[in-house]
Amino acid sequence: MQPGLQNEAMKVAILAGGQGTRMGSLTKQIPKPMVDIGGRPILCHVIKHYVDYGFRDFVIALGHLGSCIREYFEGPDAIETGCRIQLVDTGSETATGGRIKRLASALGDEPFMLTWGDGLADVDLDELLAFHRTHGRLATVTAVQPPSRFGHLHLQDERVVSFAEKPQRGGVWINGAFFVLEPEVFDYIADDSTPFERQPMERLAADQQLMAYRHPGFWQCMDTVSEWEGLKRLWSLGQAPWVTTPSSVRQDDALLTTTSPASNALAAKRRVLPRQERVLVTGHDGYVGHILVPMLLEAGYDVCGLDSLLYKDCLFCPTQCEVPNIQKDIRDVTVGDLRGFDAVIHLAGLSNDPLGDLDSQLTFQINYQATIDLAVAAKAAGVNRFLQASTCSIYGASDDNWLTESSAFHPVTPYGVAKARVEPELLELADDQFSPTLLRFATAYGVSPRLRGDLVVNNLVGYAMTTGKILLKSDGQAWRPLVHVEDMSRALLATLQAPRQRVHCEAYNVGSTSENYSVRQIAEQIGMALPEAKIAFADNAESDRRNYRVNCDKFARVLPEGRPRWSLQRGIQELIAAYRETGLTLQMLESTQVQRLAKIRSLLDVGALSPKLRWKTAHNSQLYVDRVALRTQRAA
Ligand SMILES: NC(=O)c1ccc[n+]([C@@H]2O[C@H](COP(=O)([O-])OP(=O)(O)OC[C@H]3O[C@@H](n4cnc5c(N)ncnc54)[C@H](O)[C@@H]3O)[C@@H](O)[C@H]2O)c1
Repeated sequence: MQPGLQNEAMKVAILAGGQGTRMGSLTKQIPKPMVDIGGRPILCHVIKHYVDYGFRDFVIALGHLGSCIREYFEGPDAIETGCRIQLVDTGSETATGGRIKRLASALGDEPFMLTWGDGLADVDLDELLAFHRTHGRLATVTAVQPPSRFGHLHLQDERVVSFAEKPQRGGVWINGAFFVLEPEVFDYIADDSTPFERQPMERLAADQQLMAYRHPGFWQCMDTVSEWEGLKRLWSLGQAPWVTTPSSVRQDDALLTTTSPASNALAAKRRVLPRQERVLVTGHDGYVGHILVPMLLEAGYDVCGLDSLLYKDCLFCPTQCEVPNIQKDIRDVTVGDLRGFDAVIHLAGLSNDPLGDLDSQLTFQINYQATIDLAVAAKAAGVNRFLQASTCSIYGASDDNWLTESSAFHPVTPYGVAKARVEPELLELADDQFSPTLLRFATAYGVSPRLRGDLVVNNLVGYAMTTGKILLKSDGQAWRPLVHVEDMSRALLATLQAPRQRVHCEAYNVGSTSENYSVRQIAEQIGMALPEAKIAFADNAESDRRNYRVNCDKFARVLPEGRPRWSLQRGIQELIAAYRETGLTLQMLESTQVQRLAKIRSLLDVGALSPKLRWKTAHNSQLYVDRVALRTQRAA
């Protein structure tokens, strides 16, 4: 009998219930086995590997977000696998051993195969099974050598004889989680809380009942986003080693190559895109980026960051901004860096007037010239959408009348001038394949892991709490539109999700028309929330030329789903609570941790950055950052 025909009768158990916490916010929406590789959940790749060896009878242990897997295989539009698939709920907190034990009645009294729903390999399953049958013990584990995290140097005395960059074989053998087990193994598992890899495997080994089948070939688990990225890369290059096709196979490609209505229905329900759209976020490591990126991940986008990481060590509170990053200056980006992305959200740059005033030529280079170069490169790379983080400061020195998107620009600072210059040139690049959208953001406020203490509301609340004074540095008469950082991110998401024709070549003021305040009114609102704090004026306070009162109705009308939800009043309460929780002090408020200008100055002072704001030694940027952090800590 061909091995494939014997295999048809054997059951395959797959554990698919874990929490997948190391995958970040992605696995809060979908269970890890449903994470997509090449248009199919990784679980389908695992099943397909077994199907290629003739296995047809699967028992899948569900847990965390198990309903998502159930819907995929049993929903009204379930995928046609040609296999028998039993789904067994094994609890969301159960350990691996507990899950296996809970499958006992579905698996019956025969030997069975066991694997995990988040690892891929090119293990020869016929050979594995044949090996198990030769030794007559209770368990066979597949031993694999994980890919090394580092390149290997082979040394003879001090001479490097050979070098291998991150070889697949790291030297040690580990549990690769492709098992063959006899039913007696259930007796080795105590209860739900037993991890299979602990007492059961230890006792099986001690009882000489555990044998290892050595697999020297490809093996990769998917525990982290970067491992996921690696697997997707292999798939997209057509080099997926886990796609095996031995002679005993019946071809059944429904699992990997056809699109089923089920995946579409599921995608719509979980808001996972059928093919994940790839978005590059420049400046993703900043104040806005740390709120935007988790939002994009949650909406199902495949996100990559690009940032020179100027504020890498400036963390205010825990972050969920965990995505692959191209550490690069936007002045150095090439067409090659941008290939394969569907959209670019451009946040990177010098982000306020004081930074822009440091060196106006440099501000034009980064905020204007590099932005246009980036857009030209994006267009050449086939990127369809380009979302520009513009600003209402382009309206600059205006009067007290309402400003709309068609009002004249009167920027008064290098920052404002550079942002204003970008806009018409960016729109000139538009065509059928390239859609730029200009989002003119109001002044942001609110809590972010990369908090900016230099933004007016964040700053005034901080001073009020640490000094008892709401300290105005101007006469407070100038108008400012305000927007919460979360609403800013929601506006970017809504723009990205909108049909092209609604946002193509459009400019939007982003904020709420009702959320325009004079700086004095902002201070009064803070005074109401913190009655013990008194409004005061700095010694040199004079009138501020930057004065703009902005109408934001167009955005709310065209993209109602992205309409702001926050009010200044609620934002002040949020800040007060966060500052109390972190024990904000005046020293912290004025430190490099939250003040962009102070941070850049300190990096210049210690020689980490050149006057052109480039890391002096690209590879040592982290070292410099650490050194600055140390120094700041010591000073504190
Ligand atoms: N926060 C606001 O109130 C506000 C309002 C209107 C517009 N904007 C715009 O939104 C964008 C994001 O603002 P933010 O508040 O998150 O700023 P931020 O300063 O917190 O973040 C900017 C990010 O860009 C990176 N960066 C700076 N120069 C770079 C370069 N040359 N190459 C690569 N990366 C570089 C930094 O490392 C940082 O991570 C900016 O373009 C800003 O002008 C912000």
